[in-house]
Amino acid sequence: MASSWEKFEERIKQEMRKVYSEAVIEHSMNPRNLGDLEDADGFAKVIGPCGDTMSIWLKVNGNRIINASFVTDGCGTSIASGSMVTEMAKGKSISEAQKTTQRDVLDALGGLPQESEHCALLAADTLKAAIREYITMKREPWKRAYREY
Ligand code: FES
Repeated sequence: MASSWEKFEERIKQEMRKVYSEAVIEHSMNPRNLGDLEDADGFAKVIGPCGDTMSIWLKVNGNRIINASFVTDGCGTSIASGSMVTEMAKGKSISEAQKTTQRDVLDALGGLPQESEHCALLAADTLKAAIREYITMKREPWKRAYREY
């Protein structure tokens, strides 16, 4: 028998289904890859058009992203976008991941309401900024000392 918490959660999901896809609901309520990564090979913190921020950490091995994580102070759809973009990045080569667009994140999430589409842009932009940082740190490792998490 469902507990009162489970019933409450189901009621919230039913309300969310009127606006969001199953993937958005799942990734916002159970985000993957949440938190920082120690000794990250790439890192970026980006401020989105709405003023919210997202941070992404990358671990890279042999030019392939082997792990990725994120933190955001944004809304539920930015949590879903960060969760999805880090899932998408894992296992990709640096050059493949660099091509990730807002459209890719939106498609993977099954779309977002128009007013939330910028959350997917923030996620794609942060991933690409973290990749650029990885490339810079590889070239100039001494810059790691000046990183600000
Ligand atoms: Fe600011 Fe979603 S990231 S509203």
